[in-house]
Amino acid sequence: MDAGLLGTGHYVPEKVLTNKDLENMVDTNDEWIRTRTGIEERRIASDDVDSSDMAFFAAQNALEQADVKAEDIDLILVATVTPDTPFPSVSCMIQDRLGAKKAAAMDISAACSGFMYGLITAKQFIDTNAYKHILVVGVEKLSKITDWSDRNTCVLFGDGAGAAVVGPVSDGKGILSFELGADGAGGKELYQDKDDHLQMNGREVFKFAVRQMPESSVNVIEKLGCNKEDVDYLIPHQANIRIMEAARERLGISQEKMATSIKKYGNNSSASIPIALSEAVRDGKIKDNDLVVMVGFGGGLTWGAVALRWGK
Ligand code: ACO
Repeated sequence: MDAGLLGTGHYVPEKVLTNKDLENMVDTNDEWIRTRTGIEERRIASDDVDSSDMAFFAAQNALEQADVKAEDIDLILVATVTPDTPFPSVSCMIQDRLGAKKAAAMDISAACSGFMYGLITAKQFIDTNAYKHILVVGVEKLSKITDWSDRNTCVLFGDGAGAAVVGPVSDGKGILSFELGADGAGGKELYQDKDDHLQMNGREVFKFAVRQMPESSVNVIEKLGCNKEDVDYLIPHQANIRIMEAARERLGISQEKMATSIKKYGNNSSASIPIALSEAVRDGKIKDNDLVVMVGFGGGLTWGAVALRWGK
């Protein structure tokens, strides 16, 4: 049986930080942020909420949607670059809190591509019949590594978590093709500095992303032997609307067929794709048998994409 998504969920903090709010913090303006990035506002977690809390809420939501009990989870994979602590991992923290007693647990560090790395790793355990239910979470509290005095980066990011329960689905459904990649030579373009702040060479990351996202999207479709026109819904990493548009235009699909949660949430790194996915499922934008492409890129540099046929 192929590995598919049995349920999805997400959590975003209540506190909204608007572009107008940022105008009072750094030398920027709403118009610049909207036109250069597509972001209108983002969510910021309070001091007493860390990544493991948001991961826990999103995971609970996904388990409910999947109708799978925590005790039946075999493995928990949490993609994050902002764990509460390097160890214990966020995955171990939520294993305990969920009561997922038989689950193995580990975190994955692949920046914004983390959820793609998680899904594709989960698929291998399902394909080989080693495990039946795997919880994959993408979570970030980027506000804690953001330099709030740097207008080049602080306008871009937000906090949140998204999750999916991966398990066996009927033949022809689920994750049908994937691509993963990395280019460590590009690590210097996007990294955490010794003060723990996120540093980014925006122009270089932009150039890499407008090349990689469209290319990976097309690659997973071609591996399937499908045509670009067959794609029903595209969930790109929500980094910048202009980068997302490049992927959409390369696939030749209409705007309504692309998730754009970036407007409300900004870039949530590894949580962007699962949040957008969970909202699309909740809002009925993805239907049974739809061909869905998810594609991400991020620090490392890393990238990943999947094509999946929706349904159980
Ligand atoms: N408000 C106003 N002006 C700004 C701001 C701001 N918030 N930020 C930068 N500027 C200025 C710059 O200083 C520059 O001024 P200058 O020409 O006088 O030097 C000018 O705006 C234009 O800067 P550019 O870098 O050319 O702007 P660009 O159109 O490239 O947009 C952006 C910048 C949005 C960062 C873009 O490069 C981008 O999206 N890059 C990719 C970022 C990304 O996708 N990161 C994802 C990975 S994150 C992760 O993995 C955790």
